[in-house]
Amino acid sequence: MKTRQLGTSGLEVSELGFGCMGLSHGYGPATNENDAIALIQKAYESGTTFFDTAEVYGQGANEQLVGKALHHVRDKVIIATKFGFKNGRNTDGLDSRPERIREVAENSLRYLRTDYIDLFYQHRVDPDVPVEEVAGTVKDLIAEGKVKHFGMSEAGIRSIRRAHAVQPVAALQSEYSMFWREPENEIIPLLEELGIGFVPFSPLGKGFLTGKMNADTEFDKTDWRNVMPRFTKENRKVNQTIVDLVTKIAGEHNATPAQIALAWLLAQKPWIAPIPGTTKMTRLEENIGGADISLGNDDLAIINKALDNISLQGERYPASLANLQGR
Ligand SMILES: NC(=O)c1ccc[n+]([C@@H]2O[C@H](COP(=O)([O-])OP(=O)(O)OC[C@H]3O[C@@H](n4cnc5c(N)ncnc54)[C@H](OP(=O)(O)O)[C@@H]3O)[C@@H](O)[C@H]2O)c1
Repeated sequence: MKTRQLGTSGLEVSELGFGCMGLSHGYGPATNENDAIALIQKAYESGTTFFDTAEVYGQGANEQLVGKALHHVRDKVIIATKFGFKNGRNTDGLDSRPERIREVAENSLRYLRTDYIDLFYQHRVDPDVPVEEVAGTVKDLIAEGKVKHFGMSEAGIRSIRRAHAVQPVAALQSEYSMFWREPENEIIPLLEELGIGFVPFSPLGKGFLTGKMNADTEFDKTDWRNVMPRFTKENRKVNQTIVDLVTKIAGEHNATPAQIALAWLLAQKPWIAPIPGTTKMTRLEENIGGADISLGNDDLAIINKALDNISLQGERYPASLANLQGR
């Protein structure tokens, strides 16, 4: 797999990373530990060098999996993790106080079985802690050698500018896909201006763009998509138009819809590195194949025109999860 530079930070990653969240958190019961480790290792053996985790993905459980799977190749991979939720639970509110950031860093280093974190993201901007203070704390961790690069997730343009002035932001991780194109308005131009890399999360639209789910799909009772307005049965029925479009494009390119969703992101900018997640070996291989599909400017123009004509229905997050909305 080819590599990409995340902006001007000097951070080089495989063009497709691997999002480890779903192995422990978010989409139903955790994957059995041996299977999860085998999957992470398979991603590495297939050329993936960029792995994404967070404290909040099972209160350290996901970081421990990543540590177990990759500690023997530590110097060959880039590991990104995140701080910012109280008690490491996204239902408990935000907490980016400096002492908490330091506590998370120490836990992450232990769980990941390493003495440095390549990329340490603030998971969400905390309205109670100025971003300058957060950036300053990460700057200190960088000076101490415990962290290599600073990242933000779902941060708005003002927060990014303010933080970047204290400690350069290497990468922004926010939702971006054919299913959620809002970053094209203000975020992507700002990242280009400041030389910040972009790591789109949920690049497969949380699975929706793959064509493997429809209005009849039943989610496990612990699956977050049960409470996400975009994923109500009614909205899935309406939003099926985008799946039909991606499926049609996939047919034209001899690819699968998941591969087209990833190729579309890779074609946007050379400093974008998406992090699809899966719990299944065959899908991992399929997704990695997305890096081999190249969409040219003509393809993009046709696809984007068609996307512009689709009106999607449903908010990303319910009011009860307002903390997850970016600032
Ligand atoms: N910063 C943040 O706030 C934030 C938020 C969300 C996610 N993330 C990160 O981004 C990563 C990816 O995002 P995500 O997991 O939300 O969404 P995603 O990668 O867009 O989609 C994952 C979903 O798609 C399914 N899937 C994956 N490949 C497939 C394929 N080829 N065919 C059919 N279904 C497929 C998976 O199910 P199976 O497991 O059954 O394959 C899973 O339900 C996460 O792992 C996490 O590291 C960050």
